[in-house]
Amino acid sequence: MTHARQHLTRVVAHRGASEDAPEHTLAAYRKAIEDGADALECDVRLTADGHLVCVHDRRVNRTSNGRGAVSALELSDLAALDFGSWKSRDAAGGPRVEEPDWEHRPEDREATSVLTLERLLELVADAGRRVELAIETKHPTRWAGQVEERLLVLLKRFGLDAPASREDSPVRVMSFSARSLYRVRAASPTMPTVYLMQFVTPRLRDGRLPEGVDIAGPSIRILRSHPAYIERLKRTGRQVHVWTVNEPADVDLCVGLGVDAIITNRPRAVLDRLGR
Ligand code: G3P
Ligand code: CA
Repeated sequence: MTHARQHLTRVVAHRGASEDAPEHTLAAYRKAIEDGADALECDVRLTADGHLVCVHDRRVNRTSNGRGAVSALELSDLAALDFGSWKSRDAAGGPRVEEPDWEHRPEDREATSVLTLERLLELVADAGRRVELAIETKHPTRWAGQVEERLLVLLKRFGLDAPASREDSPVRVMSFSARSLYRVRAASPTMPTVYLMQFVTPRLRDGRLPEGVDIAGPSIRILRSHPAYIERLKRTGRQVHVWTVNEPADVDLCVGLGVDAIITNRPRAVLDRLGR
């Protein structure tokens, strides 16, 4: 008897296990690896002195005890900040009320310091199992190619800049900017690229993606409102990586539509839902 090969839906930890631990910190990525995530998602930005750091917002105000734009601060300025305590601040003092499901050990300052992409790559290299990386370039147009250039230089140090094939690469680059992905494709033709979409614009409706892009990265809202669009993408052989999927019903929707990667703040809960 022959068995069809089971479709593996990858579980990608969005900003780390960011429901449990402060996003984009070593604490969140260590937790995601412990939780069994297949891949880690991170946003990268350039500091004023040219380091790639994992920070989502343009400014550090929401996720640290400092203020200012990442692009105006040097790595040493960022290293002086605490990117962890906001996660457990009460409603009066901060944006969210959380009971963190991680042990905040003040002596482990690195766990909640600014995270460089280099340190995240070291963590992945030392994970003891395959852990993929989905790296998102943020506001790359401002830097006219420098984000992509520095990203590939850094990946090269870890032997990850020129994968043997797109299908088997442990790293992929994601962006809302088609231009950023085009630059990556030009510099590294075998690096998989994911085009992030908040809406299905008329240009994309027939299932085409911008030049230099392999993988579609729609928001979960697109799956809820336009499931036929996802079916069209799948019929044309595209991989579909969906963000940000935290609710059980949305996980089921992704599975039903044959999604290839679920990007989530709750990797353990999604793995449980998938029976893994
Ligand atoms: O994984 C894609 C998703 O992260 C895009 O949205 O705003 O969370 O970076 P954002
Ligand atoms: Ca992101």
